[in-house]
Amino acid sequence: MKLDKLCVAYYSPTHTSRTVARAAADGFGIARREEIDLTTDLNESPVAVKDSICIVAAPVYGGLVAPVAARRIGRLRAENSVAVPIVVYGNRDYEDALVQLRDLLRAQGFTVLCGAAFVGEHSYSRPGMPIAEGRPDATDRTEAETFGQQAYASLLRQLGIGETPDPTARDFALTYDTPLESLITAPPMKGNVPYKTLGPSTPQAPVVNENCYGCGECVDWCPTGAISLQDGHSTTDVSLCTKCCACVKFCPANARTFDTPYTAKLHQHFSARREPELFV
Ligand SMILES: Cc1cc2nc3c(=O)[nH]c(=O)nc-3n(C[C@H](O)[C@H](O)[C@H](O)COP(=O)(O)O)c2cc1C
Ligand code: SF4
Ligand code: SF4
Repeated sequence: MKLDKLCVAYYSPTHTSRTVARAAADGFGIARREEIDLTTDLNESPVAVKDSICIVAAPVYGGLVAPVAARRIGRLRAENSVAVPIVVYGNRDYEDALVQLRDLLRAQGFTVLCGAAFVGEHSYSRPGMPIAEGRPDATDRTEAETFGQQAYASLLRQLGIGETPDPTARDFALTYDTPLESLITAPPMKGNVPYKTLGPSTPQAPVVNENCYGCGECVDWCPTGAISLQDGHSTTDVSLCTKCCACVKFCPANARTFDTPYTAKLHQHFSARREPELFV
């Protein structure tokens, strides 16, 4: 049996989970690497992951894995593969999201190696009311790379591989004789099982202002297909909006705003810098 590639899978509307996942992947140093971007993939079909070390990153919404992320990650079907779950949260808390992602990956057939929680700029962060603005920053990316290095060292140790193969070789492979689940044990991770339960949330979507010139880019960024163009302006189906704020952050004309009282509250109460937590 062998593991012969690195896989980086993520759901990441505002790209912070993607940035952390890629930095952690850099730490592994394995050149044979593929990406599975589930962010705007509306497909329902299963995605096979075989003989892989798979970093899987998702944002935290309400202390749990973002529901659309959980559904998309639920499409992964693992065969002889190791998973490294990473949750990224907006400097408030990640509560039960990491253990939830760990358990979801196990249910998809992965053997979980280790996990981590990182901080990303909060979706509701605004100029004048920043919440973890600019994160993951250079320090976070270095920490994510270190996490990748530590995870790789742990994998080699648990597989009993003494002589490290060249991770940049075209024929890179870690070989072993017994099933992964009998060799690998994940350390305890922070979070409660059973997970917290969430009450219903009020439907809301960003508002479009007169700056919109109908370029249509937000239609492509929206992870749930909630945006369409009508008469040269973008319009949003509130029932499909997840409040991810990708359209707000990336619109080149600042034509979309999402006003919520949470922005001021989060800015006021959760400005003190939180650091990544590694469970390796
Ligand atoms: C609906 C919603 C709920 C969120 N809930 C939390 C939360 O419970 N705790 C937290 O720290 N951040 C929370 N965030 C912030 C995101 O976790 C954070 O911005 C993350 O970096 C977004 O990841 P992405 O860039 O990969 O989309 C929430 C964001 C949204 C849109
Ligand atoms: S809201 Fe922004 S990104 Fe969307 S169509 Fe209008 S100008 Fe383009
Ligand atoms: S319309 Fe809603 S779901 Fe779509 S990108 Fe904007 S905030 Fe996210």
